[in-house]
Amino acid sequence: MTWLITGGAGYIGAHVARLMADAGDEVVALDDLSAGFPERLPATVPLVEGSAYDGQLLKRVFAEYDVTGVVHLAARKQVAESVAQPTRYYRENVGGLATLLEAVAGAGIGRFLLSSSAAVYGNPDVDLITEATPCLPVNPYGETKLADEWLVRAAGRAHGITTVCLRYFNVAGAGAPELADTGVFNIVPMVFDRLTRGEAPRIFGDDYPTPDGTCVRDYIHVADLAEAHLAAARALDTRAGSDLTVNIGRGEGVSVRELITVIGEVTGDRRAPVVEGRRPGDAPRAVASAARAAEELGWTARRGVREMVESAWQGWLHHRSS
Ligand SMILES: NC(=O)c1ccc[n+]([C@@H]2O[C@H](COP(=O)([O-])OP(=O)(O)OC[C@H]3O[C@@H](n4cnc5c(N)ncnc54)[C@H](O)[C@@H]3O)[C@@H](O)[C@H]2O)c1
Repeated sequence: MTWLITGGAGYIGAHVARLMADAGDEVVALDDLSAGFPERLPATVPLVEGSAYDGQLLKRVFAEYDVTGVVHLAARKQVAESVAQPTRYYRENVGGLATLLEAVAGAGIGRFLLSSSAAVYGNPDVDLITEATPCLPVNPYGETKLADEWLVRAAGRAHGITTVCLRYFNVAGAGAPELADTGVFNIVPMVFDRLTRGEAPRIFGDDYPTPDGTCVRDYIHVADLAEAHLAAARALDTRAGSDLTVNIGRGEGVSVRELITVIGEVTGDRRAPVVEGRRPGDAPRAVASAARAAEELGWTARRGVREMVESAWQGWLHHRSS
């Protein structure tokens, strides 16, 4: 039994690959290295360099490694880029997935895990977002993730593939410094970047209807997220023929101002943030209900925001010194 992890050399994929290999699973990574680094992978995980949307390559890899399950993380993931290049996002995230699922069905592989996102919900006005909250994505990235979920469930039903879609909330932190996210697209690296340049962190809007006026989000440590994948992989073994869609968050809201305070404590750079205008499209609050993950996967996040920021900071220093 072998798991293929697409995007396995990426930030989240490398955490998942390492954890599954440590748990004793056979794992092979497939990554085109457009945003990944081979050195993130442990020696026990072979890397096939190529596209997850190349049907011929998939056929070869499935046969050569006797693949019995796929964890699909490869995707384009930047909201602003998706607004500027929607056709590329639909072609890669959705069209590419169709090719991958055809190859999975053709090879008789019966387990499929999709990396989805809280972006599928858009900006719902609720205290806790459950999996039953209506999905109304507000950008092409979120739309492609929602279309991916529909496609995965439909292909699962048509071809007898057991499926799980994991909707990640705001991922942060690093399981080891060398595995850290090197992109500057999420709030934690964005604040590190500002501090490193000697500039004050920015808050976009402090007049939201939240306790301190800044946006509230649900941050999840990438090591907890990797554990959720392992739990989901086990669920795919025991729930043959089903599909499952699950939020992956902590169920706890943290405001931007609170997060910047923790970052100040961890980095020792406590300069006061500057408040700028709201960004279009930012929801005041987006916090997961984590109940279904606990019930269906037996998984609950264990790590808090301080641990996320500390590990992300170690990763940031590591990448700046190497
Ligand atoms: N990081 C987050 O906060 C977050 C939140 C929600 C969902 N997600 C989803 O998690 C997944 C992984 O995200 P990440 O943060 O690790 O991003 P990442 O960019 O670090 O990893 C993606 C990996 O996929 C690879 N890749 C891209 N296109 C490919 C292709 N066609 N064939 C093979 N490999 C390809 C890249 O080289 C990279 O290694 C994505 O599907 C993303 O949409 C991420």
